[in-house]
Amino acid sequence: MSVTVLKLGGSVVTEKDSPETVDERRLEEVVSAVEGADRLVLVHGGGSFGHHHAAAHGVSQTAGTHDHEGILAIHRAMKRLNDRVVNALHARDVPALPVHPLSAGRRDHAGGLSHPVSQVATMVNEGFVPVLHGDVIAHAGAGATILSGDDLVVTLAEGLDAERVGLCSTVPGVLDDDGEVIDRIGRIEEVREILGGSDETDVTGGMAAKVEKLLTMDAPASIFGPESVDAFLVGDSPGTLIE
Ligand code: IPE
Repeated sequence: MSVTVLKLGGSVVTEKDSPETVDERRLEEVVSAVEGADRLVLVHGGGSFGHHHAAAHGVSQTAGTHDHEGILAIHRAMKRLNDRVVNALHARDVPALPVHPLSAGRRDHAGGLSHPVSQVATMVNEGFVPVLHGDVIAHAGAGATILSGDDLVVTLAEGLDAERVGLCSTVPGVLDDDGEVIDRIGRIEEVREILGGSDETDVTGGMAAKVEKLLTMDAPASIFGPESVDAFLVGDSPGTLIE
């Protein structure tokens, strides 16, 4: 259905070191690039809204909790950030609508994620821009665990049969040992030495885990910095192309 899925990294839209602080300048930069984009699904990460609450309640992608107050504290923080992102989009007349994964998705016993896409697809078909986010979600046998925006991107891209996927991060792409952007990655073996192993306990994912996840998708994915959102949305492949 020719949908583009774009994730805005949490450290792009928030100031990662100060709790619950939006990086207004960056958010504005990214939102202005999104203005006018067609058939777009947005996902944003947690940055200083999600990770701080997740750590405070001892919850990660694998370590779950049944503490409903802790779950709600994390979810509410993510909703506050989601509200800020949606408001910034509305200020530019982007018809953004929030979608909260806690209310819709789940993980099975093996950690496999499912998240419905029919509502997201209908929003896109009706001209809206759904804005989802990293969240806490119900996890069979574990209570609730953290859902990263990256995992959500992969599930949405598959379910929507997305044409293109973009991950806007604070770096201009996947960097080699000399700090240069790698143009294209076709197999994880090409970059394993540079990126090191993927660490499952890293709540923010890490670059190796990110690349591995993106390689599982049918759609090509690009990893780029905030200055390249507009280039990506007009059809270029800035940063690193993963396909
Ligand atoms: C994390 O989402 C969500 C929570 C901690 C609740 P992400 O893992 O996608 O966030 P960033 O992009 O790394 O900040």
